[in-house]
Amino acid sequence: MNHEPLQLAFVGCGRIARAMVSGLIAANWPPAAIRGFSKTGAGAEGLARDYGTTVCPSLQDAVGGADVVLLAVHPHDTAQVLAELAPLATAQQVLVSLVASWQTGAFADVLPDTPCVRAVPNVAVAVNSGVTALCPGPAAGREHLRVATAVFEPLGRVLTVDESLMESVSAVSGAGPALVARFVEALSSSAEARGFTPETASELAAYAVHGTGSLMLKGGLAPEEVVDLVASPGGMTEAALHVLAERGLEDAVHSAVDAAVKLSLGRLRGATGTA
Ligand SMILES: NC(=O)c1ccc[n+]([C@@H]2O[C@H](COP(=O)([O-])OP(=O)(O)OC[C@H]3O[C@@H](n4cnc5c(N)ncnc54)[C@H](OP(=O)(O)O)[C@@H]3O)[C@@H](O)[C@H]2O)c1
Repeated sequence: MNHEPLQLAFVGCGRIARAMVSGLIAANWPPAAIRGFSKTGAGAEGLARDYGTTVCPSLQDAVGGADVVLLAVHPHDTAQVLAELAPLATAQQVLVSLVASWQTGAFADVLPDTPCVRAVPNVAVAVNSGVTALCPGPAAGREHLRVATAVFEPLGRVLTVDESLMESVSAVSGAGPALVARFVEALSSSAEARGFTPETASELAAYAVHGTGSLMLKGGLAPEEVVDLVASPGGMTEAALHVLAERGLEDAVHSAVDAAVKLSLGRLRGATGTA
């Protein structure tokens, strides 16, 4: 970075904050420009121990002097944290909310002067291979979106989407690594059942997923083109794909994403002002 780094304050220092800090530090974000506050202090102290970030003893210490406040607490803790944030946050700061199911309107109700950008990253930000969807709230302009983008760009791909799609993003790419990990687990256990050690089985499966992602993202191939490269008529891949289709893989994945979106919509805050 050839300019002063943005000062980041994480409020909530659990799994997603840790994943972001890991990626930011790997991308040379200075630890001195990252501070954390968490309820018991355990999360913030863990980040400080592992990444050299600063532990804040209070929310006020975390928010004061920060350019960007990243809210990374659970939906059910958010109302209380927001009430505590209200007298502290300023119009010069950008609030980036990672909280699932909380729409930007709900933040604007409590913090009308502080621009809010909602973000849905996934845990792959830990290894700078994440994807993050952003959507600006009512008080956020282009500059605020630019600031939020500057925080997530070192962590992987950044997209801007309409807020109406954010619950779907959470289900597809937020939850995506867990869904894909289950597939890898299944592929790996089938390898183990054929005599591979757990380590080799797991590598075979994980590299299959990694390579497929690279063929699409670096090689520009569509999924069907990858299938065409592998499956020859009457061959073993075709036999395997036939079983997946017969067992309803696509239906199962659609239903899984539907279930996640439904849960998120059921606890939505901000669209109507109700839980
Ligand atoms: N995990 C993901 O892949 C992911 C991806 C995108 C978005 N999100 C969203 O990010 C949010 C956090 O998820 P997570 O998985 O990181 O949760 P988590 O691992 O359970 O961490 C929650 C953190 O919130 C802190 N906390 C709780 N109450 C607080 C309060 N009143 N003030 C300050 N800190 C408080 C906890 O502090 P302690 O240190 O005291 O435990 C902990 O550090 C959720 O809304 C989730 O939907 C998660």
